[in-house]
Amino acid sequence: MKILITGGTGYIGSHTLVELLNSNYEVVCIDNFSNSKPEVIGKIKEITNKTFTFYEGDVCDKNILERIFNEHTIDAVIHFAGYKAVGESVKNPLMYYRNNLDSTITLLEVMKKYNCKNFVFSSSATVYGSPKNLPIKEDFPLSTTNPYGTTKLMIEGILKDLYISDNSWNIAVLRYFNPIGAHESGLIGEDPNDIPNNLMPYIVKVATKEYEHLNVFGDDYDTPDGTGVRDYIHVVDLAQGHVSAIEHILKEPGIDFYNLGTGNGYSVLDLVNTFKKVNNIDVPYVIAPRRDGDIAACYADPSYAKEKLGWSAHKDINDMCKDAYNFVKRTKGL
Ligand code: NAD
Ligand code: UFG
Repeated sequence: MKILITGGTGYIGSHTLVELLNSNYEVVCIDNFSNSKPEVIGKIKEITNKTFTFYEGDVCDKNILERIFNEHTIDAVIHFAGYKAVGESVKNPLMYYRNNLDSTITLLEVMKKYNCKNFVFSSSATVYGSPKNLPIKEDFPLSTTNPYGTTKLMIEGILKDLYISDNSWNIAVLRYFNPIGAHESGLIGEDPNDIPNNLMPYIVKVATKEYEHLNVFGDDYDTPDGTGVRDYIHVVDLAQGHVSAIEHILKEPGIDFYNLGTGNGYSVLDLVNTFKKVNNIDVPYVIAPRRDGDIAACYADPSYAKEKLGWSAHKDINDMCKDAYNFVKRTKGL
């Protein structure tokens, strides 16, 4: 069974590649390194002791996709490639619409041409907008608050239309909650070049003294300690969810949508305090104003993924904090 992974040297893609190789899938990967580094390829091979075929290229480029489909019989595709920074998408929406939509449409066109109709897509909990109730179920109303989120919702719509036009497609849309942590080897993880927008990469940079303190965006939300609550999920659990989704679509036809989260909500201060405790390191913070566009709380009801995919998350917040710091310690030789 041969799987094409787009964006496979990125954060979630690299962990998924490891899980697929460990499950004995053959893997072909394409990435243009717009947000990842070539070294990741060697790290994945080192962790798994297995090999895979890599193409450096852009998923918006039909020619390289055709080359891949000519050179391999691809059974299914997992599409991670895309831009993901919410703030950047507000500043430069066209860049987001161009890359996220163009890559997906081009990929689907080439898949159709080569009669490969098994597709797993990286969507996001951001498609639930500001949920009125918690935990979030898959049939909750959908809306978005920024261009990045809109690209995800538009692509979900494209996939629904595609399936209506031809129900021989098998599609799993995975709505991720907040992936954090790293592979336990410490060889791969999240390594943003720019100032991180997300909480865990920022905590890590405060712990390593790159930044003086963390800004906690608001302590007056309607949550137990006033800080924002999210459903943090270990990236290795999330990666395993993709293996389950592939197994599922290869045996059960249709299109379906799944929350990949743990079902547990933790606040900003829960995460900071757990990080300090398990890593025995200080993380100074100050309370700052709320961040525009943030919601108070967001966590999944993951029971549908458990029922249909037979998947659930196993790692806890201690593992997430320990593995995130272990990765940075190894990377920076601390
Ligand atoms: P990432 O930026 O680490 O990985 C994306 C990879 O895609 C990068 O390696 C990048 O170089 C590559 N890429 C981007 N555009 C490309 C193109 N046109 N052609 C070829 N390669 C391209 O991001 P990630 O955190 O691993 O996220 C993977 C997917 O999951 C994205 O679609 C993202 O929107 C989605 N997602 C991520 C999160 C999160 O918090 N990390 C949450 C929900 C959804
Ligand atoms: N936060 C801080 N300080 C920081 C960064 C974040 O207090 O420096 C807080 C936020 O206010 C929020 C929580 O930490 O309460 C989590 O924030 P993140 O930026 O880590 O995550 P978000 O839930 O805002 O968004 C992330 C991705 C989105 C994705 C969403 C759901 O950035 O792309 O998860 O998957 F859509």
